[in-house]
Amino acid sequence: MAITIKFQSENKQFHLSNKDISYIFQLSEDGKLLQLYYGKKVPQNRDYSYLIEMHHRPMTTYRKDGDLLYSLEHLKQEFPEYGTTDFRHPAISIKQANGSNLTNFTYKSHQIITGKKTLEGMPATYVENEQEAKTLLLTLEDQLLGVEIELSYTLFDKFPVLTRNAKVVNNGVNVQSIEQVASLSVDLPDRDYDWMQLSGAWGRERYVKERKLQQGIQSIESTRGISSHQHNPFVALKRENTDEFQGEVIGATLVYSGNFLMQAEVDTWDVTRLQAGINPFGFEWKLQPGESFTSPEAILVYSDKGLNHMSQTFHQLFNEHLIQKNWYKKDRPVLLNNWEATYFNFNENKLVNIAKQAKNVGIDLFVLDDGWFGERNDDSAGLGDWFTNKKRLPQGIGNLARKIKSLGLQFGLWIEPEMVNKNSDLYRNHPEWILHTPDRKSNHGRNQFVLNFGNDEVVENIFQQISAIINESELDYIKWDMNRPLTNVFDINLDANQQGEVFHRYVLGVYKLYEKLIRNHPNVLFESCSSGGGRFDAGMLYYAPQTWTSDDSDAIERLKIQYGTSMLYPLSSIGAHVSITPNHQTNRITPIETRANVAYFGAFGYELDLNQLSKDELEKVKEQIKFYKKYQSVIHNGTFYRLVSPFEKDQNHMTWIVVSKDQSTAIVGDYKMLNKVNQPYRRVKLQGLNPDIEYKIDDSTYSGKELMNVGLITSDASSGQINDQNNRAETYDFDSKIWVLTQLEEH
Ligand code: GLA
Repeated sequence: MAITIKFQSENKQFHLSNKDISYIFQLSEDGKLLQLYYGKKVPQNRDYSYLIEMHHRPMTTYRKDGDLLYSLEHLKQEFPEYGTTDFRHPAISIKQANGSNLTNFTYKSHQIITGKKTLEGMPATYVENEQEAKTLLLTLEDQLLGVEIELSYTLFDKFPVLTRNAKVVNNGVNVQSIEQVASLSVDLPDRDYDWMQLSGAWGRERYVKERKLQQGIQSIESTRGISSHQHNPFVALKRENTDEFQGEVIGATLVYSGNFLMQAEVDTWDVTRLQAGINPFGFEWKLQPGESFTSPEAILVYSDKGLNHMSQTFHQLFNEHLIQKNWYKKDRPVLLNNWEATYFNFNENKLVNIAKQAKNVGIDLFVLDDGWFGERNDDSAGLGDWFTNKKRLPQGIGNLARKIKSLGLQFGLWIEPEMVNKNSDLYRNHPEWILHTPDRKSNHGRNQFVLNFGNDEVVENIFQQISAIINESELDYIKWDMNRPLTNVFDINLDANQQGEVFHRYVLGVYKLYEKLIRNHPNVLFESCSSGGGRFDAGMLYYAPQTWTSDDSDAIERLKIQYGTSMLYPLSSIGAHVSITPNHQTNRITPIETRANVAYFGAFGYELDLNQLSKDELEKVKEQIKFYKKYQSVIHNGTFYRLVSPFEKDQNHMTWIVVSKDQSTAIVGDYKMLNKVNQPYRRVKLQGLNPDIEYKIDDSTYSGKELMNVGLITSDASSGQINDQNNRAETYDFDSKIWVLTQLEEH
């Protein structure tokens, strides 16, 4: 095992390292954790205490009587507190019976274990084989309160990854009120970073946005109860010269699906405090004596080889240590979803006719989306009643499932288990089950209300209903949707002083239901969804190995969305479908080839009525499915590189490549937005190939070295004048091309 975690008692330094990175901190003379170094691996068994710089600075405050040097404001820390000489934002804040927020957590003990602990009730990265990771468990204690904090640091042997979380344990006699507990806090020695975030809105999720760090606070957060379309729980701090291929970058994410805060506070001396955790806004957790509170897990990825390397690390970590093992490297079914094909306008016959055509073209899985349950004839009724809509499917969902399965297809259903319409049996029987604030009007979103998943009775009811449907229809797949943020957040079963717990209890309830469903029905493939990508996060991936990326299914719009999403989420998790044109969100007409060429770089499927396609198009669909099945394992398990960004340069082109692990096969996708005239020549230098082998592309051969240094020519007929005398293939707006590179067999 290449991981070492060492405590040097002579200088009280912790040095965590694997083959790539070092993470070093030291105990101060009064037991505080002082951050020394995080970055590329440096030698162990050395004394790094020279990194602690203390200079007397006017207008600061000091810890020791008569001393004008030791101030926490001057020092880089690991888990800071406010108000005892540090004025920056803290990692922990506990309100006590007397109203004070002052704490004094100091080192108590530590333990180094092989492997990694699980987080009770919460998703987290895991190891199957203990040798894959090592963990430092460090206990801090506030003796006055009798409260301990257990900080956990895990290093993985194969990756430049550090995961952290914090557990607060109340061993004292008083109730404590946690107002904030960060999963991660680390002070970096300078502010020479560009802050990168993935932000947007419904229909344009996870656009790459950047700004320079400046003195002050920059942050992203969610206050919506879900991780949100607006901000994905991810930030990268990258050096000014860092690009996709080279340079230093630190990527951070949270394995959490609710309100989060990620922030960088640059202080007056250019120290950058990076923090991530549950959003303190709207949060307050009462900790009774004997109880503990566990923060979600934060993940830090370090790369000195650019953004692609950071992303590849996230991809591999998520594939191997986050998604459920039974889906790792398992080919996903090519699915057909009926939502954009029929919306609510379907009956059994119509569905079976689409399914027949689906079978004919090579689809594996037929997914019936919204509308099959309760009195769901439009979006004003039915949520909460997870049994057959008899008006629409008089013979029952089980009967439809059998018909679909007898065609040789798998069968899947859409559910939205966290929601209820007022027009439903569930609401009529239990109006008190929705999140609502007494004596105030509740707000709807899409005519629906949010069930209080903090209430175990609610979770159990929904579990029983969904379980019965899984059994009745022998489901192979479930799309779990969530179509509105939380409002009127209040739990009528909790005391007044516990209302700050409701958001987090809700998320724990969602995890509880997921956990029960995947343990009881391990063969069901879950795809998470929240009006497209409103809850695309690592927490969800633990339970549902794929996510519906965006409700915007337009291929050209998807380029930016999937490009941003790939910053940390693996291609196997990025649900991507070919839909009909004119596109339902943009009215745009794109070639069916381009629609597939974009969707190939994800968990591939179709979302249209195949019976509306021409014979010629159906033949193309058959070929597309064949292509995808042939290369799915390369796409999902290979190494992915973004080559040309749709956010930069001319913003008219985008290119990416995925290379099989053994480097014998690679697939390049190149996309053009608008056709322009007399364009520059274009070459793209490829990445990740074996420099020493020959690759075949169509009828030509090139060496890996050539393709990576000279580049692949991607100019098309628009580099000139299209209808000229030169007889070159015509090109159009929204064209794209796929190149398959295969290692030339030696004769
Ligand atoms: C959400 C989803 C869509 C579809 C509809 C059904 O918008 O993101 O894919 O399932 O709900 O109502």
